[in-house]
Order: sequence, then structure tokens, then C-alpha cells
Amino acid sequence: MILTTYNQIAVPSFMYGTAWKKDATARLVQLAVESGFKAIDTANQLIHYQEELVGKGLQALYQKGIQREMLFLQTKFTSVNGQDHRTPYDASANLTTQVKQSVDSSLVHLHTDYLDSYVLHGPYSRRGLGAEDWEVWEAIEELYNSGKARMIGISNVTVEQLTQLCTKAKTKPMIVQNRCYAQVGWDQEVREICRTHEIIYQGFSLLTANPQVMANPLVRAIAKRLGTGAAQVIFRFAMQIGMLPLTGTTNAQHMKDDLGAEQIELSAEEVQQIETIALV
Ligand SMILES: NC(=O)c1ccc[n+]([C@@H]2O[C@H](COP(=O)([O-])OP(=O)(O)OC[C@H]3O[C@@H](n4cnc5c(N)ncnc54)[C@H](OP(=O)(O)O)[C@@H]3O)[C@@H](O)[C@H]2O)c1
Repeated sequence: MILTTYNQIAVPSFMYGTAWKKDATARLVQLAVESGFKAIDTANQLIHYQEELVGKGLQALYQKGIQREMLFLQTKFTSVNGQDHRTPYDASANLTTQVKQSVDSSLVHLHTDYLDSYVLHGPYSRRGLGAEDWEVWEAIEELYNSGKARMIGISNVTVEQLTQLCTKAKTKPMIVQNRCYAQVGWDQEVREICRTHEIIYQGFSLLTANPQVMANPLVRAIAKRLGTGAAQVIFRFAMQIGMLPLTGTTNAQHMKDDLGAEQIELSAEEVQQIETIALV
């Protein structure tokens, strides 16, 4: 299954996330691709990600005959607020320079001359978008215009911020990546904006943010009917509502199980029931 954004770029429908994999990152990237994942998410942010080790995993795959074009690589620009002392750019430089330095170092880490998707890890402002956000977004737009990034996006974004970006930016995002809580209708309002603007919505922490849904008797019953687990039901639900899910599994069997979500089908009634399962 392939998703397409308003700029007509195809994106694989399931993504492997590399946060918190530490020294196992290279091995897990290889395992994920060999298991069937075609899209990899990372960030140039050493607190949570090992982007260089993602690149090491990719190199090993290239040596085995996987070609760069067969994979969808996504990484992020993380502001100083989200970094420790190991910033991948000169933290005293202006923001435009920080973005340029960060992406250039990502390209080196990932052994590539282009990114399929480049994402602003999160706005500087808590409410709305401020001058810093606009400066960084313009630097990211420039990457899109230069061809270094085939798609650009934003993460950890509110309804208000995404609305502003979609109405005022020269280039609106093609990707939104948010933590997805069932209590707010699986980020229903942000997803609705994405649907209207043909932006791909990527949901992360679908399992870890929703343990009560994993344990819910309805989800368990659907899993039993389909002969599968609660994780696959949630991932399949996400796909059926038009979301691109990320999984962060470290387990070879779970990788296969999670990819198996593409082979099952929930009824329209089941989808509707899960959509409202935890609304408060
Ligand atoms: N933009 C951002 O700010 C941001 C923030 C957080 C995350 N992310 C991205 O999202 C990715 C995924 O996040 P996440 O790790 O929170 O996602 P997640 O897939 O919700 O959580 C991973 C957890 O789910 C378990 N799991 C996965 N498949 C399973 C299965 N079939 N059965 C049982 N347990 C299963 C894993 O355990 P096992 O390892 O045992 O399988 C692991 O404990 C990250 O790696 C990162 O790329 C982005």
C-alpha cells in the first residue's frame, strides 16, 4: 500500500522508527529492511537517535544489493532546545545556518545526497508560530526547492500551528508526524487538516501512548477474530483511517507481526468503534 501527498510523491504505508535503539540501531535498521520495511525514520539528535548508526545499517544493506532508491529515508532538524551539548551544528550560528549544517551532517550520516523527507522536529513556540519557527521553516523550504529533500514536514504540531503553516507558508508541509492518543480521537483535528490539505499524517507511539486500547476487550475480540494480536489491530486501524503508522519494535517477530497488519482488514464498524474507543 502506498500513500501520496499533494506533491504526488509516493510514501510507503508503514515506517520503522529508530529512536532509543542506541548501539543496536545499525543491526535493527538492517533487520527492519530485511523484514520488509521500506521507510526509516530518524533524527539528527543524539539524545534519542543514532543517525550515524542508521547510516551504518544502510551501508550494510547497500552492500547486500539494496539500492538507495528502494528506501524512503526521513530525518529531522532538532532545535537547540531538543539537543544536549552534542548539537550537530554550530549552536551559536543563526537558525538558517543551523538547518543547513544539520541537514548536511544528516546527508553524511546517511550516505546519501537527498532525503525523501525532512521534518522540523517541533516548533519553538508553544502556541502558534513565532519568528524562529518561520525562519527555520523557510530554511527547510529551501531544502525542498534545492532538491535535497523531496518532501518536508513538521512534527509535534498543534491544530493552531498546522493551520498557520498551511495558510501562510510558501510551501505547506507534506508530512505531519505526531504522537497519537486515542483519548483525542487519535489526533482527529490535526488529521482532519492533513486530509483537507493532502498531507500525510504519521502517527507515532500508537502502542505505547495507548496501553488501555491494547488491553480493551473490543480490540482483543477483533484480534481474536482475525487470529492476530492487539498491536496489528491498532496498526491496521491506523492504516484504514488514512494514517501512516510508525513502529519502534526491537523484536524480529514483532517486525513481521506489525507488517502483517497490511494483510488484515477491519470492518467499517470496527474502525468506527476504535476511532471513538477512548474519547473523553
Ligand atoms: N517526532 C517525535 O518527536 C517522535 C517521538 C517519539 C517517537 N518518534 C518516532 O516514532 C517511532 C516509534 O515510536 P515508539 O517506539 O513509541 O512506537 P511504538 O511502536 O508505539 O512502541 C514501541 C513499543 O511497542 C512494542 N511493540 C511493537 N510491536 C509490537 C507487537 N507486535 N507486539 C507487542 N509489542 C510490540 C515494542 O516492544 P518490542 O521492542 O518488544 O517489540 C516497544 O516497546 C520512534 O522510533 C521514532 O522514530 C518520533
